[in-house]
Amino acid sequence: MNFRLDLNVIDVQPNESRFALVLHNLSEYNIENWQLTFSVSRYVIPTSVSHGTLKQVGSLCVFETGAPLNANDHLYLEFSHTTKPFTMHDEGIGDACLMITTDQGITATPVETTLINLGVQSPERTPLTLPEPKAINLIPQPKALVVTQGQFALTDECAVVSDSDASQLAATWLAQELSAHLRSDVTVKKNGEIRLKQDTKLAPSHYRVSVKPQGITISASDECGFSHGVATVLQLIPTQVSHRHHAAYTLPCVEIEDHPRFGYRSMMLDCARHFHPVRRVKDLINQLARYKFNHFHWHLTDDEGWRIQIDAFPELTEIGAWRGPFETLEPQYTSLSKIHGGFYTKDEIRDVVAYAAQRGITVIPEIDIPGHCRAAIKSLPHMLVEDADASAYRSIQNYTDNVLNPGLKGTYTFLETVLAEVCELFPGPFVHIGADEVPENVWTDSPSCQALMKACGYTDTKELQGHILRHAENFLSTKGKQMFGWEEAVFGDKVSKDTVIFSWVSEQSGIECIRNGYNVVLQPGQETYLDMAQDFSTDEPGTDWACKVPLEKAYHYEPFANSDVTPSEFEKIKGIQCALWCEVTNTQSRFEYMIFPRLLAIAEVCWSAKEQRDWADFQARLSGQLQYLDRLGINYRR
Ligand code: ACM
Repeated sequence: MNFRLDLNVIDVQPNESRFALVLHNLSEYNIENWQLTFSVSRYVIPTSVSHGTLKQVGSLCVFETGAPLNANDHLYLEFSHTTKPFTMHDEGIGDACLMITTDQGITATPVETTLINLGVQSPERTPLTLPEPKAINLIPQPKALVVTQGQFALTDECAVVSDSDASQLAATWLAQELSAHLRSDVTVKKNGEIRLKQDTKLAPSHYRVSVKPQGITISASDECGFSHGVATVLQLIPTQVSHRHHAAYTLPCVEIEDHPRFGYRSMMLDCARHFHPVRRVKDLINQLARYKFNHFHWHLTDDEGWRIQIDAFPELTEIGAWRGPFETLEPQYTSLSKIHGGFYTKDEIRDVVAYAAQRGITVIPEIDIPGHCRAAIKSLPHMLVEDADASAYRSIQNYTDNVLNPGLKGTYTFLETVLAEVCELFPGPFVHIGADEVPENVWTDSPSCQALMKACGYTDTKELQGHILRHAENFLSTKGKQMFGWEEAVFGDKVSKDTVIFSWVSEQSGIECIRNGYNVVLQPGQETYLDMAQDFSTDEPGTDWACKVPLEKAYHYEPFANSDVTPSEFEKIKGIQCALWCEVTNTQSRFEYMIFPRLLAIAEVCWSAKEQRDWADFQARLSGQLQYLDRLGINYRR
């Protein structure tokens, strides 16, 4: 490349760091009218910038100096973040691009970026060193497992039998997976060795697996139970079989009785910050099912992208699904000189929902309101912007224009129309409404919001947040849906106790919500955020605003371990969810690296009884599971 950008940390204080940025012109040309764009996750203090001016929209910084940059010359500038010291290379520049204006127009010219010079010695990288696998390596650990005599030989002659409607979907999933393993066509038939048998005496989600030399029986009373039984059988299939002898898989004979500790076990995937293709989403759902998760929370909208087709508002995906140097939405994060984006069509979403259902997984769509709405607002300004609104705010991700206005009629038309289409598309009983990170000072100088506050007797703008969320809750209930929301959904005290609250900043809000009568899902960033780095070395991918989350820390997560909650308060925990936010996760290999193997640790936290969790034993079983991930070529952290 003709241009290179180097970033150096030059001064570190506990809550402020100063940086030097050097832009090199390695080309043979002098450039005249140019702007440097680069992406950083933190807020650059505008008055701290030397040698020019800088404007920031989200992660995108646009620097101008007015002076030319001559061939073989460089430009030096400094700026500050008020932030704790950087500890990782990932906190440096995500991407950079020069916008050069000539008589022919403006061109976006990529700029090479080098690793940030943190000016500190990196801690040693901690490798994942695991013991030898066990004979049976089930994750999560089942409630009861007895190894009996003999083995069952799985051959391409085997067939799957399903005796009830409840087992039909799981039987199809099993047949598909066996076909892939055996490289032959295993089908669901009337007679066969692998039987899914309904046993109505078993409680929902409970299952039994019996492997005998003459056949396998999976018993359950409901669809979820059958899915979990199938997941167990799939994990009993040995991974170390040479392809030539694929007809010689043998499963150990076992008797397993099992059921989950928490009813709700889930992962959230952010598809807004970077778009993930359908194949990647489906493969993840398949892995979630293998490890006995039963929900998939699909974060479909955010400031940086709208990812779901809405027939009434094609602008949301024509405009809001794309960002780039010449798009309505500015480029962000890892791709400043090119367009990034995409969205899921309704047919694709139906396909994903059906694929998940076949594996016992309910998909929960998230439409994040009233904050995190910039992609929608920029797509539909005629409905969602009040020109006279002079409120000045900045969101945590550095946007000044990303919050829906609860005083506008268009806001409710937008919301109801979108939610109606979402409810129609997703058959599951839940819709997540977001509600996180609405910035301070929003709505304070909006005439329509002030009028609404007066009319309703509200004294705090937080009540406006509650107002719009209560509207969403009421609308969703007319469609037979229950609302989920992040912990900020209780702000303004307007939503009912039927809304399930997802605590994420820490567990504390979860406890407070329980004490206020809500059911909660726990998703503490300190243990369950898969975008947090897994190690302390500077080259470990990820971020660390919550903290670093090594595998062992994730494994040892125990809800409310250090709190004085009563057993009846504990009962209000609906379940646990992990989450991958994708500001910097933009490729398949990075996606896999952030998820695996921590997903398996969280799976056991969600499913296995507290007294059955054992770190040493888990590590041995993980060794066995990694052989399976190797077989699939998954780029887990080694
Ligand atoms: C969140 O991490 N903003 C829910």
